[in-house]
Amino acid sequence: MSCEPLVLVVDDDPGTRKVARANLSLEGFEVLAASSGAEALARLAEADPLAMVSDLKMPDLDGIALMERVHALRPQLPVVLVTAHATVETAVQAMRKGALHYLTKPIRYDELALVLRHAVAAERARRDVLALRGELERAAGFDVLVGDSPQMQQVLALVEQVAPAAATVLLRGETGTGKELVARALHRRSPRRDRPFVALNCSAVPQGLMESELFGHEKGAFTGAVARRVGRFEQADGSTLFLDEVGELDLPVQAKLLRVLQERELTRVGSTAPVRVDVRIVAATNRDLERLVREGGFREDLYYRLNVIPIHLPPLRERPGDVPALMGHFLGEFARRYGRAPDPAPPELLAAGCAWRWPGNVRELRNLCERAVVMGWGAVAPMLGGAPPSAPATAPLADLDLPLLEARQRLVERFEREYLSRLLERHRGRVGEVARAAGIAERNLYEKLKQYGMSREDYR
Ligand SMILES: Nc1ncnc2c1ncn2[C@@H]1O[C@H](COP(=O)(O)OP(=O)(O)OP(=O)(O)O)[C@@H](O)[C@H]1O
Ligand SMILES: [Mg+2]
Repeated sequence: MSCEPLVLVVDDDPGTRKVARANLSLEGFEVLAASSGAEALARLAEADPLAMVSDLKMPDLDGIALMERVHALRPQLPVVLVTAHATVETAVQAMRKGALHYLTKPIRYDELALVLRHAVAAERARRDVLALRGELERAAGFDVLVGDSPQMQQVLALVEQVAPAAATVLLRGETGTGKELVARALHRRSPRRDRPFVALNCSAVPQGLMESELFGHEKGAFTGAVARRVGRFEQADGSTLFLDEVGELDLPVQAKLLRVLQERELTRVGSTAPVRVDVRIVAATNRDLERLVREGGFREDLYYRLNVIPIHLPPLRERPGDVPALMGHFLGEFARRYGRAPDPAPPELLAAGCAWRWPGNVRELRNLCERAVVMGWGAVAPMLGGAPPSAPATAPLADLDLPLLEARQRLVERFEREYLSRLLERHRGRVGEVARAAGIAERNLYEKLKQYGMSREDYR
């Protein structure tokens, strides 16, 4: 990393730019100058400054509007605004819109340098945290797409290639093949990664409420609209919106979605004022969209809008070569989570796993690995149609290396995990039903799932 922090200075007056460059260089900054908002945005596409100082009054784009555009690209970039005519209102407005600081001309460069030194230190720390978080997540197997088969290698190469672009991606594949994982991977490998990934399962919301869910509504727009609500599109402004099970949208909503995708602006339900949004769409479906189009259930124009970059996730049975690597990956993940020693699959079960049809694809394999870690291979062998391995593989009930209370606690946890996992499976992840069947409050159930790192999504 260069020691001189790079600062972008934007001012339409050449004299100010010159003086700023000279003074800030003396204070130990490297200065990148731009004479207009447009030029500043162009510079940002090439360079990666740690802070921006901008004049407030400029002919093309004023400082606050520029800051908003800049924050769409670099959400957290520290911005200092400078103006000749300070009023309390503009200062307040600037801060409210996300400026770090507000200075009046003539600029006192020692003061500006002090502000910038703090801003740069904070920005560097923030970037370090992000980088570390990424490393940790990778180390924890978070966002890792496992697969050595040629089919998966092709998918991985495509993900790397298209992630940085804002182009729309359509993910196809059977249930459990990794569509959501790939959607998240696309986001995390894109320049939008600092913003939260927004996901919407289009089949989980009643279609009558879908428009408001997607685009938001104004207070009083319909019965029950007691307050203004921002929709998923606006939440995902500057980020990625994952439209899961997009084939489930009904035709009126499809028409509205198409319009927003074409015009890149939306109107909240009950409003007439358009809102511009910058959203990268990743859509997914396990339905046969082409057939839906032919049968009139899905708009052809929307289909083409979404199908810009298709990525197909092959079913696991078509890439049995991935089974050993996936097993190793999940067994490691669960062994870590449950504090167990890794216990690889016995060879005969590994062979059975490679031959299995895996109707639930990778999700099914993952659940099986969790069960193997918790209950031992003997308990999962019948699921693969294999005989239980000869050695007693189930972990012993009593762990003699622990004090009694702790050993008992572990056992209780092990039991609860198994119990909840099987109930979730029976009720296909429907938490309300599981809570009722278990006779506990939904809130408690959610807490337990969180405690055990279980996700109901895995049982859908
Ligand atoms: N290549 C892979 N490497 C590691 N984990 C994977 C891979 N593919 C899928 N998984 C894991 O398998 C599980 C199911 O994947 P995911 O939820 O992405 O499937 P999906 O295609 O969205 O399924 P559905 O259509 O049912 O929603 C998740 O826990 C995911 O992390
Ligand atoms: Mg999914």
